[in-house]
Amino acid sequence: MKALILSGGKGRRLRPLTYTGAKQLVPVANKPILWYGIEGIVATGITDIGIIISPETGAEVKEKTGSGDRFGARITYILQEEPAGLAHAVKVAQPFLGDSPFIMYLGDNLIENDLNSFLQTFQQQGLDSLILLRQVSNPSAFGVAKVDDRGRVLQLIEKPKVPSSNLALVGIYFFSRAINGAIASIKPSARGELEITDAIQQLINQEKQVESCQIDGWWLDTGKKDDLLEANRIILDTRLTAAVRGEIDDRSQAIGRVEIAEGTKIVNSTIRGPVAIGSNCQIENCFIGPYSSIADNVRLIDSDLEHSVILQGAQIVGIEQRIVDSVIGQRAHLTLAPRRPKALRFMIGDDCQISLV
Ligand code: TTP
Repeated sequence: MKALILSGGKGRRLRPLTYTGAKQLVPVANKPILWYGIEGIVATGITDIGIIISPETGAEVKEKTGSGDRFGARITYILQEEPAGLAHAVKVAQPFLGDSPFIMYLGDNLIENDLNSFLQTFQQQGLDSLILLRQVSNPSAFGVAKVDDRGRVLQLIEKPKVPSSNLALVGIYFFSRAINGAIASIKPSARGELEITDAIQQLINQEKQVESCQIDGWWLDTGKKDDLLEANRIILDTRLTAAVRGEIDDRSQAIGRVEIAEGTKIVNSTIRGPVAIGSNCQIENCFIGPYSSIADNVRLIDSDLEHSVILQGAQIVGIEQRIVDSVIGQRAHLTLAPRRPKALRFMIGDDCQISLV
């Protein structure tokens, strides 16, 4: 059994962050989203992992994630020249996959459930495909499955106008080698992509064994800002343990579950967990409220924030109003807002969203 993680794509919905970086490397509780997927796969005992990368962000994904040693896995990087669809990615990965069955995992997805029981179902029942489904309130935004009482999949439709169920396809799939033949027989969809839903539908049409499992835990597709903040909140809530390795002076307090990495200095500040702070940060005269993650080398002076994700090397200085529900990109600077500013001076990149509320 192998695994294929998709970490290419364009990441349009997470612009501007994805102009300069891979969306799968955006941190959730200070760990790249992609790594949660790798860890989940390794926890099932699968260690032969292929990662699909794009020409734009592949080098960064490779450099950060490495050979797989840190996860106890062997990682093979597979370049997909163009984001021509999920099924296209499987096609490109063919030399890596060979005839092996595999789990396919979208690199920007996170789920609460562990993968063991699904893998067992797939293997013990000798299925051609097992797909994971979750009930959602807005099925039209997803691939939707129609299933019978036993969980056998009858039909899949990509983003239907009139959905036949409220069961959305989670970005985690199990396939036997039969998927390769199915992919070879499909054509690009109206949006020009080779769709994995079409390939699975092909398996259903050929009366192959395609079953589903419904997951009941949370599922997050971190491709958008609010989903990213929600993923950060849930991971901090459920997986963060207190660990203070940096320095906190005697005028500062760390309350609740707070993680502070090496080399970080906290001066005259209050940190109310759950909060994760990376290494070599400088935090002075600040209040850092719950559900905030601050990456390495961040400088926060005279500012308050909560429920926010601050990426590596950002600087926030002298912002009097509390910063909430925000994602601040790598090396971004936010500086000094007097109580009644006469003017606001910006240098803001394409696709940024600023709300002065
Ligand atoms: P999507 O989120 O569907 O696509 P995207 O990354 O292009 O994002 P957006 O819609 O915001 O532009 O992709 C799901 C995952 O699969 C994501 O981790 C990127 C990856 N992917 C590939 O590796 N190759 C592809 O051809 C596609 C379409 C996606």
